[in-house]
Amino acid sequence: MTNPRMDGFRNRVGGLAFGGDYNPEQWDPDVWREDVRLMRQAGVNVVSLGVFAWASLEPEPGRYEFGWMDEVMDLLHDNGIAVDLATPTAAPPVWLTHLHPEVFPIMADGEPFGFGNRLHYDPSSPIYRRYAADITTRLAERYSFHPALVMWHISNEYGPTAYNEASSVNFRHWLKRRYGDLGTLNEAWTTRFWSQVYTDWDQIEVPDIPRAWMNPSRILDFKRFTSDALLECYVAERDIVRSFRDDIPVMTNFMRFYRNADYWKWAPEEDVAALDIYPDPARPDSHVSAAFQFDLFRSLKGGQPWMLMEQAASAVSQWKLNVVKEPGRMRLGSLQAVSRGADSVMFFQWRAGRGGQERFHSAMLPHSGPGSRTFGEVTALGREVELLAAVAGTTARAEVAVLFDWNGWWGLEEVGGLPRNDFSYADTVMRHYTPLWEHHYAVDVVSPRGDLAPYKVLIVPNAYLIDDHGVEAITAFAHAGGTVVMSFFSGVVDECNRVRPDGYPGAFRHLIGAKIDEYWPARPGERFTVRFAHGRTASADWWREDVHLETGTALATYADGLLEGRAAVIANAYGSGRVVYFATLLEEAAFGAMLLGQVEAAGVENRFGDVPAHVECSVRQDAQHEYLFLLNHDAERGAAVRLPGGGRDLLTGTPATGEVTLPPLGAVVIQRALQASQAA
Ligand code: GAL
Repeated sequence: MTNPRMDGFRNRVGGLAFGGDYNPEQWDPDVWREDVRLMRQAGVNVVSLGVFAWASLEPEPGRYEFGWMDEVMDLLHDNGIAVDLATPTAAPPVWLTHLHPEVFPIMADGEPFGFGNRLHYDPSSPIYRRYAADITTRLAERYSFHPALVMWHISNEYGPTAYNEASSVNFRHWLKRRYGDLGTLNEAWTTRFWSQVYTDWDQIEVPDIPRAWMNPSRILDFKRFTSDALLECYVAERDIVRSFRDDIPVMTNFMRFYRNADYWKWAPEEDVAALDIYPDPARPDSHVSAAFQFDLFRSLKGGQPWMLMEQAASAVSQWKLNVVKEPGRMRLGSLQAVSRGADSVMFFQWRAGRGGQERFHSAMLPHSGPGSRTFGEVTALGREVELLAAVAGTTARAEVAVLFDWNGWWGLEEVGGLPRNDFSYADTVMRHYTPLWEHHYAVDVVSPRGDLAPYKVLIVPNAYLIDDHGVEAITAFAHAGGTVVMSFFSGVVDECNRVRPDGYPGAFRHLIGAKIDEYWPARPGERFTVRFAHGRTASADWWREDVHLETGTALATYADGLLEGRAAVIANAYGSGRVVYFATLLEEAAFGAMLLGQVEAAGVENRFGDVPAHVECSVRQDAQHEYLFLLNHDAERGAAVRLPGGGRDLLTGTPATGEVTLPPLGAVVIQRALQASQAA
């Protein structure tokens, strides 16, 4: 499905977008002129302007200063640089918080957030919303038809969770819409437990500051509500800018593994999904987690290209130790995003600030200026991004999907009272994704409401909480011939966080072909041995389940402990499909091998089976061409990769056939014409 607004954006930009956050309000006009000269030198074609500029645009209530922005917009346009114009509402000015201290979010510790940071607003505050709407309207009035404008960037990284009175009022409205009447709410929240029955809507508040056990259904709804309250803020500003002009794409920027906003609900409200990502160069596996995020962002809007909205040119400044990106690492990470569907390479930020909290955050143009290593690499990357223009608008295809669900995440990590309370959803998802990444399988990410029809294999990591719709979709997928790989503690509770009836795992008992009598989390340090059919053994820890097989069979059993001889991994034929269920945490190598075995058995294509794990391989395509990206993440070892056919190396402009050699941290992008049959 194409989006005419994004088609327009691509035509204007002429390929992939390249640029970053630009904060001219922090600099003198002389610097602006040097900026645009150097931007042109670096190949910048888009900047995100005005992200936190509210105080510079409206220094006093109702007094606007647009002169500087007029000048900057004109200057950028005259130099062929387009503008992704931000509404500045992520950082309310101090006068607003003085006039109306109630806009400050009350934090989980009961204290107002205070001034001096950013995101200091309660998303439910009508006052905040009124002022945000006003500045958005002023900007839209003034710049909607400015020739530099190519995109609206609404606010920045929506995030605050607020425990204010205004939030309680809005929470009640939200609950009324969800449940209709109090009886249904009381039932959904199991309020007879500990005598929590509500008899009037006004008795309902946002959950108290978490000092003790809270009702787990109320917490879950508060998480959903918080995401929706933030989304209301986004939609309100989006609708304002759209009311002036409807053909400009509108987006906001998201974060990696971010728990406070359900991006599946947000993405349909945007023209493009956009990600800010800061992989830690000190962590050897951060590019694998980045790959997952990139696949998620491509999937958020059903395979449409997404935007890499922010990344660091080198070091960040928010961690205790901020390691630089070694030469070549920034280029590789940028190409990695493009390889997985990004139509842009953008940074935070263009010019490194002299002061402020992020003065040591790297930039496209660092403190050491245009002669620096980083600026050299940025300029070289800008040229390469231009060479990849043909990739813009293309997408990727996958036969394997990983289920990713914010509701399930909240259920596992936010509510407490589980058999064990140290689940990490991000870790479990990465445990399932990593073997697929290492073996170069293309992967999409799906929500429980997503379309599962295109896939041969569905991976379901620890789906403790899943709604009926998700249960039906997964069950129907297996029934129709799909392979489901599911891990323990899945299908346990419904969307209200109530244990499903008739024994565990209530939702998936027939699917996995077994009943689970009890969940047996391991004691600290406890390990088990698991034996496979051919006599091989592997170790397991952290979790076991007291499994009673029904239609399922054991692929592996415990070789020791109280569950000796009982199933640890189950296979079950279901309809025309197959389900494999891991009832324990198998050691990584054994788990990866079994997961990959299922993927292979399901007949999933793997064109890069022989390529070493450190060379990431992915494909984008459109009706005429495919683009093979080969990225060597190893800083010491080179690699030789046999190409599946001839093509043209887009970065060197030379023909590519047979074998290509990648130096350490090297990358190639091969364009190949598709036969009509392959393009279908
Ligand atoms: C992002 C944010 C930017 C900048 C960047 C680097 O989260 O949107 O404004 O702060 O991180 O820390």
